[in-house]
Amino acid sequence: MERDFRWQTLEDTEAFGRSLGALLRGGDLLVLTGDLGAGKTTLTQSIAEGLGVRGPITSPTFVIARVHPSLVGGPALVHVDAYRLGSAIELDDLDLDADLDASVVVVEWGAGLAEQLSDTRLELTISGDDERTVHAVAVGARFERVLADLAPSVA
Ligand SMILES: Nc1ncnc2c1ncn2[C@@H]1O[C@H](COP(=O)(O)OP(=O)(O)OP(=O)(O)O)[C@@H](O)[C@H]1O
Ligand SMILES: [Mg+2]
Repeated sequence: MERDFRWQTLEDTEAFGRSLGALLRGGDLLVLTGDLGAGKTTLTQSIAEGLGVRGPITSPTFVIARVHPSLVGGPALVHVDAYRLGSAIELDDLDLDADLDASVVVVEWGAGLAEQLSDTRLELTISGDDERTVHAVAVGARFERVLADLAPSVA
């Protein structure tokens, strides 16, 4: 299942991210793609708000991954930036202080590197600069449901 969402303003992006974040659960994988400055970190910040995890969410320039624990008894957020990675991501090798099966994993620059982390995932590709579009591809039934649940409120 694929779906496009159009964001005319930053507020639209934030509303999308919060709605999406509220639907996520442990074990979910999101793969974010888009040029430099497309808005991947900004979207992750709003997803984090929807999830209710501890911030701040920043661009992890010198670290590959950060763990943001839940403030509401829900899943933690593992925020990964794969920009500098040359090969497939192996989260086990990062020795993160998190139960990955119980965490939501969001990977910036993850296309081609993160897919093997999970058979089911949501792939989000952001494009445009003034008005942005996100192309969402649900891989697996789990994310088809998530996309269907999102559509009415934020499309
Ligand atoms: N939907 C949006 N509408 C307007 N401005 C936005 C939107 N999303 C992001 N921005 C702005 O664009 C800039 C870059 O955003 P951001 O850092 O999220 O991009 P990124 O894709 O994570 O970049 P990088 O490739 O460096 O990781 C920020 O100043 C941010 O405020
Ligand atoms: Mg970023």
